[in-house]
Amino acid sequence: LYPEITMIKIAKIGHATFETADLGRQLAYYTEVLGLAVVEKSARSAVLACPADHTSVVVQQGPQAGCVKLSLELAPSDAGDITSQLTASGIKWSQKSDAQAGIAQTVCVTTPDGLNVDLIQTATPSGARSLTGIAPAKLGHIAFKVQDVQKTVDFYVNVLGFRVSDWMGDFFAFLRCGPDHHTVNLLRGPTPKMHHIAFEADNWDHIRRASDLLSLRDMPIIWGPGRHGIGHNIFIYHRDPDGQIIELYTELDKMSVEELGYFDPQPWHRDKPQVPKVWDPNLPSNVWGPPIPDGFRDG
Ligand SMILES: [Fe+2]
Repeated sequence: LYPEITMIKIAKIGHATFETADLGRQLAYYTEVLGLAVVEKSARSAVLACPADHTSVVVQQGPQAGCVKLSLELAPSDAGDITSQLTASGIKWSQKSDAQAGIAQTVCVTTPDGLNVDLIQTATPSGARSLTGIAPAKLGHIAFKVQDVQKTVDFYVNVLGFRVSDWMGDFFAFLRCGPDHHTVNLLRGPTPKMHHIAFEADNWDHIRRASDLLSLRDMPIIWGPGRHGIGHNIFIYHRDPDGQIIELYTELDKMSVEELGYFDPQPWHRDKPQVPKVWDPNLPSNVWGPPIPDGFRDG
């Protein structure tokens, strides 16, 4: 469907941009409950970060709650080469300068489901660990509902250089751009929108502390704790005050050496070695923990 853009190599996920009708309420959640550090703040927006990210989330005042943009950090490269190859391949793009402090150049593209993706230069991690709230280590992945999964996967793979880690049936794809099993998930659905955003906890004990903290805040865990089959991460999910699904996870599969083609072996794997495959959607999506709640995949 899409020609291969060899110049684009994504080094890591950048950040997600959310609109919210209640900036104050979302900011209170992100700082006091989730425990992200405030990097920049104005009357209409805020930039928030985990220690391992330059920026993890941008929240801006807007009419409708939801994710409006995904930023991805390019491996060091020349933005000029990228844009000329995009043009030669017929991919529409635009460019911004100094859109955000510390980020000089941004090349903007749009996925087939209409999501705006900003390609930004690799940026220095904030190092800022919040002393309140859950305080995850980094933004890990973001899952989207899309109408045409195959076409959108093709865009991420050929244009943005992602690799397919796993499929569930033919309707749910898990894509990686670095060692982490997935950075973007694409789930077939009638309306394009974000399904959930996931932050990495340090370990299983951090998941326990996060669960206790959410309970004290009267924010119910809507699924988990459990260990997924695909990606094998331990997970809990809750909703932010806007109703967006937030995942905290740990022990996600990694493919440390891409050339080996298998995920780093773990004692809980059933396949040895664990290689990318198509998973049977009729089998449970967890190896342990409560089953998926009704309606969860609807978002
Ligand atoms: Fe997830």
